[in-house]
Amino acid sequence: MIEIVPAILVKTPKELKQRVKEVESHVDRIHIDIMDDKFVPNKTIQPEDIDLKTDLMKEAHLMVEDNEKYVEDFINLGFDMLIFHYESCKDIPGIIKKVKERGKKVAIAINPPTPLSAIEGYLDDLDMVLIMSVNPGFSGQGFIPDVRTKIRKLREMKEDLDIEVDGGIKLGTAKIVAKAGANILVSCSGIYGHENKKEAINLLRKEAMMNSRV
Ligand code: DX5
Ligand code: ZN
Repeated sequence: MIEIVPAILVKTPKELKQRVKEVESHVDRIHIDIMDDKFVPNKTIQPEDIDLKTDLMKEAHLMVEDNEKYVEDFINLGFDMLIFHYESCKDIPGIIKKVKERGKKVAIAINPPTPLSAIEGYLDDLDMVLIMSVNPGFSGQGFIPDVRTKIRKLREMKEDLDIEVDGGIKLGTAKIVAKAGANILVSCSGIYGHENKKEAINLLRKEAMMNSRV
């Protein structure tokens, strides 16, 4: 099954509420982008400003330096899945253990230049891998086609793993990543850039499903 997940990159609680409302009845999960202006040159809404009431599954994509602090904050906020970056994490086994002990799901994200070999040793302990198809920091960037190879290789290594892709996913690129083996597709401008969010989500899902390798 292919899942389409709206990416929410906002600065204020009001925008967050609005963006959730716009997609709430069309998806099962939302992806909240969190940036600290250190790991990436942009700053989003911070945990202390988040007050989210929704039945959707909530994942936090942490693009931050201090993974320990943010992981703790988002567990306390009731998020279901924590995604941290390989490139900024100083104690990967420690973070995985902490998230699991608190009963939440855990995923590692890797930037376009980071090879799969960097995370190979952790695959059995993860609920998902996020392959970034842009360099994190901003929405609306162009999809980096080279990441196809990484997705394909990872799917060959792990038949049942959830493989999420984030960055530049819209009609035209959704089929590329689905064909390579991704099963969870994150999109911001590919959804929020359209007047009719429901239709944008359904079209993305249809394109991905028609080309899905899984
Ligand atoms: C990139 C973020 C993405 C971003 C996606 O730094 O992690 O989730 O919001 O935006 P689009 O889909 O517009 O590339
Ligand atoms: Zn993201």
